[in-house]
Amino acid sequence: MSFDRVAHIYDGLARLVFGKSWQKVQNSPFHYIQESDQNILIAGGGSGKLLSGLDDKKITYIELSSEMIKKAKSIQTTSIVNFIEADFLNWESNERFDVIIFPFFLDCFLESDLKKVLQKTTSMVGRNGKLIVTDFQKASPLKYWLVRLMYGFFRFTTGLKVNRLLDLRTQLKTVGFKEQELKDFYGGWIFCSEYKI
Ligand SMILES: C[S@@+](CC[C@H](N)C(=O)[O-])C[C@H]1O[C@@H](n2cnc3c(N)ncnc32)[C@H](O)[C@@H]1O
Repeated sequence: MSFDRVAHIYDGLARLVFGKSWQKVQNSPFHYIQESDQNILIAGGGSGKLLSGLDDKKITYIELSSEMIKKAKSIQTTSIVNFIEADFLNWESNERFDVIIFPFFLDCFLESDLKKVLQKTTSMVGRNGKLIVTDFQKASPLKYWLVRLMYGFFRFTTGLKVNRLLDLRTQLKTVGFKEQELKDFYGGWIFCSEYKI
């Protein structure tokens, strides 16, 4: 699976499908990040739009797609960013982070891998650290079919294995993450939540 083939059209496509509010959704993790949060992990950050809003931080940026990383490297930020091209599941680190951000990242995993990702994440959240997740959740039948259509497109272009939306908020709860605050977009179709362990 690789997002390389769609890296050059991904952001434009998202804006086309989701309209003007897409920017608001993409920026939603900033709501939960404080000045004192210094050490940040971003997994599956794609073309790096989040980086432009994060200054003076130490950021670990783990991304599977080399083309996405190329784009992310061109984003202006005063943060020190360590770009790592790797599969999050195979990447090993003993570091503990103040903030971990998963921006439309968890929806790339089948249920068995999702459990592994979440389990692994529990040990990466530092003391008083937090996990911020932006992603889709089940909404109206029309939106359910739109998500299936999106998965179809990404299965075809990237080789993504996933074909249905999992209940991410329940899965997060199952491994011990406690939801602190939830923000909804597009009538609840997209959520951005802060979690603590
Ligand atoms: C749906 S895109 C989201 C991109 C961006 N975060 C956004 O919100 O527009 C998912 C991103 O996660 C990356 N990704 C998927 N599985 C991954 C993995 N196992 N390890 C690291 N990155 C991964 C993909 O390469 C892709 O850039």
